[in-house]
Amino acid sequence: MIKQNSGRDCTENLPPGQMGLPILGESLQFIYKKAKFFDERRNKHGHIYKTHLFGNPTIRISGKKNLEKLFAAENKLLQSAYPTSVRTIIDRIYDWCRSSQVTIFSELHSMFLELASVSLVSMDMPKSEKTRIQTLYHEITDNLFTLPINLPGFGFHKALKAKEELNNLFRNRIKRDGKTSCEQFPAILETFYKAQNSDFEEDDLVNGIFELIFNAGETISASAICVLCHLSQYPRVVEKLRDELSSVDLLTPPEENNNDVVNLKPEVLNKLSYLDCVYKEILRISPAIGGSYRKVLQTFELEGYTIPKDWTVVLGIRDTHQTETQLSDPSVFYPERWLDDDSSKLSFFTFASGPRRCPGKGYASLVLKLFIVKLCQQCDFTLSEKNPEMVAMPTPRPKNNLTGKFISRKV
Ligand code: HEM
Repeated sequence: MIKQNSGRDCTENLPPGQMGLPILGESLQFIYKKAKFFDERRNKHGHIYKTHLFGNPTIRISGKKNLEKLFAAENKLLQSAYPTSVRTIIDRIYDWCRSSQVTIFSELHSMFLELASVSLVSMDMPKSEKTRIQTLYHEITDNLFTLPINLPGFGFHKALKAKEELNNLFRNRIKRDGKTSCEQFPAILETFYKAQNSDFEEDDLVNGIFELIFNAGETISASAICVLCHLSQYPRVVEKLRDELSSVDLLTPPEENNNDVVNLKPEVLNKLSYLDCVYKEILRISPAIGGSYRKVLQTFELEGYTIPKDWTVVLGIRDTHQTETQLSDPSVFYPERWLDDDSSKLSFFTFASGPRRCPGKGYASLVLKLFIVKLCQQCDFTLSEKNPEMVAMPTPRPKNNLTGKFISRKV
């Protein structure tokens, strides 16, 4: 249970775990081991343990009960805070701007970055610019979890440079398009900025564009890779999806059925219950964001442990999904589990919860469901590896260079 700590020494009764070396803490082990770092410590210490990452004393917390409580305690006990490197990348933008064979990873990354640029911020760019934007975002994602050392040669420095170039690129594009106010952009940009309590100055526009494309492009391309990997491993799931599409006359590929575009409205997609199960199960088993970072506003107790003021807390989304106590086989991909009457009791923190939950959930659901439907309708595909090894960080992606072959479906 959560109890506010009434002035007790907050170094007493801390959760188990190691603080590592002075200053570096356990950052090097984390950079080397990525998600395995957390798995090893959870197996050893349980759902609450301490460590020291990227200059911050940190407590990683997982488990459905704990996450429900802590996401709800936003701005009372906890406040949004990413590791110095990630947070600074985001803040720096605020400061600067005031605002025949497919290479799977690169194709999906460019496709969903481009989709986000066009549909979320109405920016359609020439091919050379798109390619550069993709490379720069790639550089940022690859250096998200690095030591915050802003010196040439260090990942953090590369990420900051990439952000600077992206901001300039967006600023120039806005000028060339002759756009001067947020009314000239899709409403989501303004809504996003109102939620951040910003006055929406010109620099905020550039920053908003950066963040929306980043949030949407990275998470959706990572989830789409998981869609391809899971569907290629489970042909029975593809067959069931096709049966469902066929039952509502949506299986015929577009050229033979002109109603396709019209029929694929969100209302239609949302009625496809098996599609919904597959979508949720992919996002449960491979959430694009593995943990939410928070700063502790005041010392409190959780499950008998002290969680001290000013420490970092990571709410472990992936860990919670993978250790779901109500499931005997949480690591198995089994979409049908979402058809059970009590599926609402399953842990699903993919979009976090509470006041800082993801505002892009609706867009993500629409785009990923459309992607799954289009795959099933239009092609059969095989990947260069049958059971590709995945890494979970910074976002889920195949460990090796994965390629795919897509073959048009004959109905
Ligand atoms: C499968 C896709 C996605 C996943 C798994 C995902 C997940 C998340 C999670 C877990 C958070 C909370 C982070 C935290 O607690 O600190 C978050 C925040 C956020 N997401 Fe998403 N997201 C996705 C897609 C999108 C899209 C498409 C957009 C934009 C249209 C978006 C925009 C944002 C923004 C702006 C925030 C920050 C909200 C805030 O700080 O108040 N996300 N997302």
